[in-house]
Amino acid sequence: MQFFIDTADVEEIRKAHALGLVDGVTTNPSLIKKAGRDHEQTIREISTFVEGPISVETLSETAEGMLEEAKTYVTWGQNIVIKVVMTPEGMKAVRALSSQGIKTNVTLIFTPMQALVAAKAGATYVSPFVGRLDDIGQSGMGIISDIRQIFDTYQLSTEILVASVRNPVHMLDAALIGADVATVPPATLVQLFKHPLTDSGIQTFLKDAQAWNRKQPA
Ligand code: G3P
Repeated sequence: MQFFIDTADVEEIRKAHALGLVDGVTTNPSLIKKAGRDHEQTIREISTFVEGPISVETLSETAEGMLEEAKTYVTWGQNIVIKVVMTPEGMKAVRALSSQGIKTNVTLIFTPMQALVAAKAGATYVSPFVGRLDDIGQSGMGIISDIRQIFDTYQLSTEILVASVRNPVHMLDAALIGADVATVPPATLVQLFKHPLTDSGIQTFLKDAQAWNRKQPA
């Protein structure tokens, strides 16, 4: 499973990239707002050091508008993926972009059938939002399993990009189901390293090393 980072905070992306944890980046209008910087500058800067796909979201409500935006966004970096919302107009845009060889990511997916519609339009990725489904008492991971089953049954090459990930258990479940990608907030990526037994084990090793007078590294 690939790890994408779900943020527009360039410093956070740099830190995770240095740890080898950034196979790609996803952004959306809320994340750009949170980062508080110019949209174009931010995406251009990310694309100077991230080799993998960088999703940039369109804001237009018509297919024509989305296609116009896409023309601009693809000039911002080498590996720009055009993010489009799950609407009939969005699917028209995905069909056109796909015929031009431009990669797309269909976002705000909440049902398996929305994912199938997006795949049939030629989407490169579908982004089901698991955390937001959990928030309203539905099973976020349930739809990931259903989408996996449907895509496998019909041998659809659209990749399942699990989004709205809130914790490492979401990532574990996504990996067990066989999702292609999980896009993860920086804080959740850091949590993947942590276990209390790892921390206490390190402390014990250091203490025992002191007991045999080993010279401590700086
Ligand atoms: O990848 C989609 C993500 O940014 C939405 O996450 O936590 O706002 O539901 P969240």
